Amino acid sequence: MNYKIETTKVNKSRLSEIDFDNIPFGKLFSDHMFSADYIDGEWTNLQIIPFAPIELSPVNLALHYGQSIFEGMKASKMNDGTPALLRPELHVQRLNASADRMCMPNVPEDLFLQALHELVGMESEWIPQKEGSALYIRPVMFAMDAKLGVTVSDTYKFLIITGPVGPYYPKPVKLLADTQFIRAAHGGVGEAKTAGNYAASLYPAKKALEKGYDQILWLDAKEFKYVQEVGTMNIFFVIDGKVVTPETNGTILKGITRKMILHILKDQGIDVEERLVDIHEIVEAHKNGSLTEVFGAGTAAVISNVKLISYDGMDMEMPSIETHKIAHMLKDTINGIRSGEVVDKFGWVVPVKKETANF
Ligand code: COI
Repeated sequence: MNYKIETTKVNKSRLSEIDFDNIPFGKLFSDHMFSADYIDGEWTNLQIIPFAPIELSPVNLALHYGQSIFEGMKASKMNDGTPALLRPELHVQRLNASADRMCMPNVPEDLFLQALHELVGMESEWIPQKEGSALYIRPVMFAMDAKLGVTVSDTYKFLIITGPVGPYYPKPVKLLADTQFIRAAHGGVGEAKTAGNYAASLYPAKKALEKGYDQILWLDAKEFKYVQEVGTMNIFFVIDGKVVTPETNGTILKGITRKMILHILKDQGIDVEERLVDIHEIVEAHKNGSLTEVFGAGTAAVISNVKLISYDGMDMEMPSIETHKIAHMLKDTINGIRSGEVVDKFGWVVPVKKETANF
């Protein structure tokens, strides 16, 4: 279906104010955003408008009870200058899975994709060219009913915001495997990309930061034994040449970068296991030298090396990143597929259809 998306352009672009050699993560936003409202059971007011504050009631349900979900995606430019998306269909599918868990309406896949193409096509000049940079895309949906009962909202807003970003973690990270706080338990909302999961991570992450670590490495909620994920990315270990990552069992995010990594590894004949990963196994592998690489993966983080893991009062220095082979190969492959330097034999790249954009 072709949707009619009304477009209102800014009078003056802010593009010339951006220093593309110095872009932090998540602080700069492009000129326009997509906006839609869910009213009376359908998505309406489909529009691309100038990026600007929106009006919210003080009793907006999302503010009080957290009915809010989001996605993180990236657009980059291929070598010939064509803007491209990576697996956008998986992002709308995951958004809708989060929506189901949070009693929110689905966004039709074709509407999501059309809005994305039109918006990114319009903002293509905002895509940074520097290695490690991209146009970050943040689709977000939240409740809009104005009332205080703890109920499912009838109305919602869906926005797609974009902005140029540099690397999320410019340096290898130090992780604290926490044995006091938890991220998600079986039966909870750990698999949904919902705001509350990130809110719940802030206090433990702040405590970790005060102790000199960058992030938490979450362990399971029952035994504080099995590795789950880092708050901002999935986690991978290379032990005895085999890549091991926690299985998705309802408590961790089904990362799309994670999925691509598993696919690339299998394609290259590298052994990979998705299973329960006991933190004591990591301690042991570190001790006996069979742990050769640790890295995180996510849309924002891409592939981020882990420098240190602290567990049970013990700081374990991870092997130096110069010796990492698999993490480098994965990063080069994913970035290369994005830019067109590596043949996209899996058909993951989706060039932005400029002809649909309202220039
Ligand atoms: C992403 O990787 O895009 C995320 O959404 C994680 C984080 C920045 C919250």
